[in-house]
Amino acid sequence: MFSLHIFSALMAIPAIWTVANARSVPASTSFSQVQFAKCPSSFGDLGSGFDCGALEVPIDWDNPYGEKIQLAMLRHNATKPEQRIGTLFFNPGGPGYSSVSYIEGAVKLFGDEVSDRFDIIGLDPRGVGISSPIKCDPEYYNQRVSLWPSNQIEFDALVNKYARFGESCYNMTGPLVKHMDSVSVAKDIEAIRQGLGDEKLNYLGLSYGTLIGQTYAELFPQNIRTMVLDGNMDHSTDHISYLTVKSFTYETELVRFTEWCGPSKECPFNGTSAAILKIWDDLLAKADKKPLPAPSCKVSGTCRADVTSEEILNSVNSMLWFKSGPFETWNKLGKALYSATKGDASGFSDTLALNSSSTSFQDQPVSCLDWDHPEESLVALKYQHELASSQWPHVKIGDDGRNKCIGWPFPAVNKVRRANIIGTPRILLINSQFDPSCSYIWANGLRDQIQNSTLLTRKGDGHTSYMVFGESRDIANNYFVNLTLPTDNTIVNS
Ligand SMILES: *[C@@H]1O[C@H](CO)[C@@H](O)[C@H](O)[C@H]1NC(C)=O
Ligand SMILES: *[C@@H]1O[C@H](CO)[C@@H](O)[C@H](O)[C@H]1NC(C)=O
Ligand SMILES: *[C@@H]1O[C@H](CO)[C@@H](O)[C@H](O)[C@H]1NC(C)=O
Ligand SMILES: *[C@@H]1O[C@H](CO)[C@@H](O)[C@H](O)[C@H]1NC(C)=O
Ligand SMILES: *[C@@H]1O[C@H](CO)[C@@H](O)[C@H](O)[C@H]1NC(C)=O
Ligand SMILES: *[C@@H]1O[C@H](CO)[C@@H](O)[C@H](O)[C@H]1NC(C)=O
Repeated sequence: MFSLHIFSALMAIPAIWTVANARSVPASTSFSQVQFAKCPSSFGDLGSGFDCGALEVPIDWDNPYGEKIQLAMLRHNATKPEQRIGTLFFNPGGPGYSSVSYIEGAVKLFGDEVSDRFDIIGLDPRGVGISSPIKCDPEYYNQRVSLWPSNQIEFDALVNKYARFGESCYNMTGPLVKHMDSVSVAKDIEAIRQGLGDEKLNYLGLSYGTLIGQTYAELFPQNIRTMVLDGNMDHSTDHISYLTVKSFTYETELVRFTEWCGPSKECPFNGTSAAILKIWDDLLAKADKKPLPAPSCKVSGTCRADVTSEEILNSVNSMLWFKSGPFETWNKLGKALYSATKGDASGFSDTLALNSSSTSFQDQPVSCLDWDHPEESLVALKYQHELASSQWPHVKIGDDGRNKCIGWPFPAVNKVRRANIIGTPRILLINSQFDPSCSYIWANGLRDQIQNSTLLTRKGDGHTSYMVFGESRDIANNYFVNLTLPTDNTIVNS
């Protein structure tokens, strides 16, 4: 989610990684071995214990002898090999985030005991980071359209943008853009598990990584040793439910932020929650009339030179993710908001794609393959916007990701439905109560689709819990190492 700086350096994968005589075989027989080698020099000095791995898999798992792509991963070996338990797979979410960059800091991120006793693998999902990354035309990506159009002209612009943008991804990448769904990713993980020697899977998925994890669990329940899903997605929620849950969790967390902000020394505003919300509402109203200037972006050229209210809403949600801890964002949000009121909204500006290899759009095919596309109707969109704005006036519709699939040329293949996850060991679900991105409601929705699970609630703010480095992480680590779980419905404070 955060330090993605190594992306670009990793794009070129040396030929030696390509598996000779790669056999791609149906899931019922054995897979090729994962080939590990020293990481290319573009990784810089990683310290000891790291290897880079690669495996070829079919683009389309239903056509296992068809065209292949290469998956790439970074592995940190167990520091105490004599006490090694197995391999732990990590996915940070997104969709479309690279896992690899997190593994560079594996010992810090997972703690001594887990990194002593597990090989830890960050696999970049297909199409992402160093795993056969997709290409798209940045000109289409950078077009500004409203995701909540109020008239036919704006609606046509929305449809047209995403139709052409999707087409450009297909033209520049090929059929992979139709096969980046979470079912394909779960099958990739299974291929790697088998290609590592067939030990059972240990898995930690945050945020969108919980969708990958639950998909794996439904397909391969017998192959799991431990699974922890943190900040949960519920793939059974229909579109209206998705939008309304998103909006109300966002509104709740925004209000909690304003309550924190006034008294906090880290936040520039001094007033009451109501006073700060008034400043917020006024700022959005002003941006609605005319986009707010983003002077730093104008200078750098890497983000938009001004910012609309939709763009503010979109950026601020992700700035609510960490109230404290090493990835703290609430402090940054306070400062960015303060600057915006003083005429510089650069902190909320959209990143622009600078070339066809930009990491900015690697999420898009995934989202549009995993979720049914919204109805292509101006009337429906206006109703939804009205619905959310009337109920949650400060954030209106906070999450607009789905509307990017209006006009997208490739239909969802992993359609919204209830999962039936049976025959797994206990799956540990962790959720914070005020998660602004993956609602506590979704943890319950997912729990209902898993026969054997334990829910751990973190009483607190922000998106996901493992990276808060508190009790939740200790409990998850105790599960990975000792198979010890808390009783169901345990509540912790950190
Ligand atoms: C990691 O462990 C594997 C298996 O024991 C070994 O082949 C490999 O050389 C190790 N890599 C590093 C960098 O120590
Ligand atoms: C994609 O390729 C097709 C066939 O060459 C072409 O007609 C179309 O204009 C291209 N689309 C984009 C967005 O580049
Ligand atoms: C908040 O209070 C501090 C200390 O009194 C002051 O320096 C600062 O200017 C105030 N901030 C605002 C936005 O009024
Ligand atoms: C694309 O742009 C990124 C910056 O966003 C840069 O780091 C990278 O080197 C560029 N890649 C190519 C192929 O030009
Ligand atoms: C749930 O998983 C545990 C191991 O984690 C196992 O002992 C138990 O039998 C499973 N229960 C069911 C109903 O499958
Ligand atoms: C695993 O159990 C041992 C023995 O009870 C304990 O010392 C250790 O802290 C546990 N590991 C974790 C990660 O909680």
